[in-house]
Amino acid sequence: MNQDKLKEQVAHEAVNDIQDNMIVGLGTGSTMYYAIQRLGERVKDGLNIKGIPTSEQTAKWAQQYGIPLTDFSEVSHLDIVIDGADEIDGNFQLIKGGGGALLREKIVANATDQFIVIVDESKYVKTLGKFKLPVEVIPFGWEVAAREIEALGCEATLRVGKDGTFLSDNGHYILDCDFKEIHNPEKLNQDLISIIGVVETGLFINMVQKVLISYSNPEKIIAL
Ligand code: 5RP
Repeated sequence: MNQDKLKEQVAHEAVNDIQDNMIVGLGTGSTMYYAIQRLGERVKDGLNIKGIPTSEQTAKWAQQYGIPLTDFSEVSHLDIVIDGADEIDGNFQLIKGGGGALLREKIVANATDQFIVIVDESKYVKTLGKFKLPVEVIPFGWEVAAREIEALGCEATLRVGKDGTFLSDNGHYILDCDFKEIHNPEKLNQDLISIIGVVETGLFINMVQKVLISYSNPEKIIAL
């Protein structure tokens, strides 16, 4: 089974957890696309929920599939948040931000006690770090922040989009940081966040309540 099919299956499984009257955090990325599509079908069938999107792209998809949206001016707690990840380890620590939405994703994940991560088997790793860690930084003086980040033991590359330097939905830059292996994600997150100019990191530490992983051979979805 190809990776897209695995993403679709795990996304559909997660949407089964959503019940009437929930406020739902909607993550970002290609796995979430399938969740939004499926959730839209359930809304069409009468499910009454409101979503909080973690990116402009997710907001567009949600509107396209008829999911009513709200924001933090109306709610402060989310009943459930569903999101993908770039890597997850056995302690449920994550690397996120491949799609550049890590800041809003972390704000939304922090506002629930039901953060569900949906991944295909390729994202479940023994040690984090093969995927370059996204770090969101303020554009002014980003070079200084990048040097300080590199002093922690990585190569930091400024993310480029199709129209030049990539800008997050918040107007910031993203540095993709190649640490190779991250053995102490909690400490690295603290070290990074203490650098002036760093807005947020793609390390999601001790935030996850449930993980769904789809496997192809044999075909199955495991809930952890
Ligand atoms: C976006 C993210 C995504 O959740 C992550 O990149 C996974 O994306 P995909 O489902 O497309 O593999 O963190 O900022």
